[in-house]
Amino acid sequence: MQSQKIDQIKAEIAAANAETPEELEAYRMRFISKKSVVGALFADMKSIPNEQKKEYGQQVNEVKQLAEEKFKQLIEEVNTSGQQRTGPGPDLSLPPTTWPVGGIHPLTATRQRIVEIFERIGFNLSEGPEIEDDWHNFTALNFPENHPAREMQDTFFIEKDPDIALRTHTSSVQVRVMENEKPPIRTLSPGRVFRNEAISARAHCIFHQVEGLYVDENVSFANLKQTLYHFAKEMFGKQTQVRFRPSFFPFTEPSAEIDISCQLCGGKGCNICKGTGWVEIGGSGMVDPNVLENCGINSEKYTGFAFGMGIERIAMLKYQINDLRLFTENDIRFLQQFRGLL
Ligand code: PHE
Repeated sequence: MQSQKIDQIKAEIAAANAETPEELEAYRMRFISKKSVVGALFADMKSIPNEQKKEYGQQVNEVKQLAEEKFKQLIEEVNTSGQQRTGPGPDLSLPPTTWPVGGIHPLTATRQRIVEIFERIGFNLSEGPEIEDDWHNFTALNFPENHPAREMQDTFFIEKDPDIALRTHTSSVQVRVMENEKPPIRTLSPGRVFRNEAISARAHCIFHQVEGLYVDENVSFANLKQTLYHFAKEMFGKQTQVRFRPSFFPFTEPSAEIDISCQLCGGKGCNICKGTGWVEIGGSGMVDPNVLENCGINSEKYTGFAFGMGIERIAMLKYQINDLRLFTENDIRFLQQFRGLL
């Protein structure tokens, strides 16, 4: 009775076929696994009379061997079926070959984020040259010649009379846009600017700004506040407070510095905000009618607001970086920390 069963299983093994991994697995379950029919033959051993045990054991082992040989053969067949592959396939258990990937510089990431925020509220992008003439950097912006206001920004002059300089701010791009476009204008101008400053943890002779300009009928200071308020919350988070402090710029009237609540202490006061709870991120104001007129825009009909912010400043606050020089030192240990940013 047992030998009949054994013969039947042998025949089944001989006839077995597998063309897919699923069929292979079905075969394994039926003939190889612990719960397979072969496994059951082993379990039957205990009911075999002692004197037949030896012979029975040999037969069952034979079946086991047959089942395993057939399994190997089926694996071979499944592996080669459908694909004309000769030799072994790729070894999927090997670790992958990876290439080191670079990251985005934190200033680039910050600029991209700023642009994204303003693009979503209808600002386009504009650019201007880094080497600028006196008109676009100063005169059109209402800095009178020889006026002490020019000294607010220590300038690298390339040529004198006519003056050519490295732009000291991105406000020069405002002028270029207004000269070439008609209102409504809503534009954002990020870029590199240069000032003759001693390099320290807080200042550099090369840094980045982003300028915003909105000129249309009925643009008000309330619009300026709301726009920057929106920006601060998007950039730094909902809990961020914004404060406008009266200030002076020759090209805006009235003018205000923009402060946000300190990201480090949340406004309680710490050494980053020098105990005040506030940190400055830029300047702003209503475009002076003289500037509009200088650029050929009717100041009776149109009003506008402008703002300029330091990109380094914003990155430092956002990522809690305490030394501005790190941005340009190219120290891989610093840059690697921003790898995941996009
Ligand atoms: N250009 C000014 C600066 O660099 C910032 C500013 C821009 C202020 C636009 C008002 C309006 O300090």
